[in-house]
Amino acid sequence: MAAQLLDGKIMAAELEEQLKSRVAELVSQGFVPGLTVILVGEDPASQTYVNNKEKACQRLGIRSVTLRMPEQTTQEELETAIEEANADPSVHGILVQLPLPGHLDSDRALSLILPEKDVDGFHDVNAGRLSRGLDCTVACTPKGALYMLKQAGISISGKEAVVVGRSNIVGKPMALLLLKENATVTVCHSRTADLAAHTRRADILVAAIGKPRFITADMVKDGAVVVDVGINRVDGKLCGDVDFEPVAQKASWITPVPGGVGKMTIAMLMDNTVAAVEKVFGK
Ligand code: GUN
Repeated sequence: MAAQLLDGKIMAAELEEQLKSRVAELVSQGFVPGLTVILVGEDPASQTYVNNKEKACQRLGIRSVTLRMPEQTTQEELETAIEEANADPSVHGILVQLPLPGHLDSDRALSLILPEKDVDGFHDVNAGRLSRGLDCTVACTPKGALYMLKQAGISISGKEAVVVGRSNIVGKPMALLLLKENATVTVCHSRTADLAAHTRRADILVAAIGKPRFITADMVKDGAVVVDVGINRVDGKLCGDVDFEPVAQKASWITPVPGGVGKMTIAMLMDNTVAAVEKVFGK
């Protein structure tokens, strides 16, 4: 492998150590950070994510409550749960795990979370502030990916960045973050004509497509920085959206799956939760 590894395991562990001190400081002053996660239905990937979030809270000393609601939960029941968490002063962060079952209106649900408790950065206020380059809570996955680039000392300003994927969770906020860092940003998606012509120009390539090993070596420029946001399961094994081994031969830096951006997503959720408490108490 020619590329250097952007190691999410190591970076997340280092960040957790800093977060532990911030939580301890808050707790010593009587402020115990609280995160409420709302999980509707039985989606196995969502259950895994939520279990990992609970474990991270335990490691850090954050009070975590998971509301596990049945698949047939109504919109009204979901909204009541959000409003109760909004009104609870011991809850500083609220996360509604996505995707919600098809009969529920996720946009409406997300818009009900108080923006100051929106630790996912999905509320219109936070997404809108990000688009304007203002201070806000930033979605955890793109925030984690940017953190990895910065920790490795990778320069972004003036670089060609290509983001493949235009979701509200990753692609769009990732593009905005890179733009804020003065990259020249292209967003590609399923209808992009000649995708490879775009990806081959990328100094920084972010793959957030949701298709296993979709980005092949011929789509990557020599020396590119490759950030793989995909988490796919193939024959029971996790793999990303990037064909790791051949692409790693060409790239200068690459994130692995598992052990890459996924680890940072959880660490950034913890960071956003601690920051939400610090804001309330003027830290
Ligand atoms: N589903 C997949 N990723 C995420 C995330 O970052 N937050 C929430 N709430 N749901 C998700």
